[in-house]
Amino acid sequence: MAPLLLGIESSCDETAAAIVEGDRHVRSNVVATQHDLHVEYAGVVPEIASRAHLQRIGPVIEKSLREAGATLQDLDGIAVGHQPGLIGSLLVGVSAAKGLAWSIDRPLLAVDHVHAHLHSPALDDTPLDYPAIGLVVSGGHSSMYHLEDAMTAKVIGRTIDDAVGEAYDKAAVLLGLGWPGGPVLDELAREGDETAVDLPISMLDRDSLDFSYSGLKTALLYAVRGQPIGRGGKAVFPRDSEDLTDERRRDLAASFQRAAITSIVRKIERALSIHPVESVIIGGGVSANSRLRRDLQALCDARGLGLRLPALRYCTDNAAMIAGLGAVQLAAGRTADLSLSASARST
Ligand code: KG4
Ligand code: ZN
Repeated sequence: MAPLLLGIESSCDETAAAIVEGDRHVRSNVVATQHDLHVEYAGVVPEIASRAHLQRIGPVIEKSLREAGATLQDLDGIAVGHQPGLIGSLLVGVSAAKGLAWSIDRPLLAVDHVHAHLHSPALDDTPLDYPAIGLVVSGGHSSMYHLEDAMTAKVIGRTIDDAVGEAYDKAAVLLGLGWPGGPVLDELAREGDETAVDLPISMLDRDSLDFSYSGLKTALLYAVRGQPIGRGGKAVFPRDSEDLTDERRRDLAASFQRAAITSIVRKIERALSIHPVESVIIGGGVSANSRLRRDLQALCDARGLGLRLPALRYCTDNAAMIAGLGAVQLAAGRTADLSLSASARST
């Protein structure tokens, strides 16, 4: 019988636990979001996040077991996202996983959160095909990988400034859409004219597979607020986001979306010309983006490549992807021990 794993995720502002059978069959997937606690700061406050994880982790794990109709004794292992992320938040999940693994005497699996995003398209679906180009696009990450298999990921490109989700969130604040604004901006962009404003599509050097969003952000800032006028050593903007008409706001959202997504799609095209692969695998919050999904499907169809996108419920942070990749590691004998600690970065 396929092993039954509990997955635990607490790397940022989602406290999550899931029960997964084998590496793909999700029996329960519980996510407690902390959105309400961070919204007034328009960003995640690490100290608030780790305290909230502490309060929620126990009930969230209990709920995941209950919904799966399982008990702790039924588990064959416990997988935890131990890197990368906010260190105080990660520690809550790692400590819970270690305590539980010790108490039921089952293996502990240390799972990299970003690699787990690249396993998420396999959940409740068919196995992934390798080798592949992997892309993780979220609030904290914009990285491209060459994947030999589910556990072997080599970074081939990364952002040199903001992550794409972060750029979406900042753009949304500039447009007066609130936080986190990625989904709202995506929605609004569908009604706008994407050719209204010519925003830069960042490509960097000719062979670069890296991403950059600072130029696009600045161009949007000027498009919203006008060219700054230097006055007394300070930059003063002639306009503000409240001065935008609804039509202009829609057009700016559409123009931003075109520039941000086109740069990602062209970088994937570049990567495909360097690395011959079977498929393209996408993960992370921004993989929910409607234009990214559409444009990548067109690119992969034209090249006869498979495109694997997560179901919408597995795009954002969740523990099912942690348990799923944990099962792959368990099958390969790659277990951790109780000396496991959390790390802010991928090692
Ligand atoms: O993966 P995730 O839940 O958390 C991180 O690990 O960061 O991703 C959240 C990010 C946020 O920045 C959010 O604005 C962005 O994903 N996002 C989107 C869309 N849905 C979520 N960005 C663009 N278009 C979307 N449809
Ligand atoms: Zn994530």
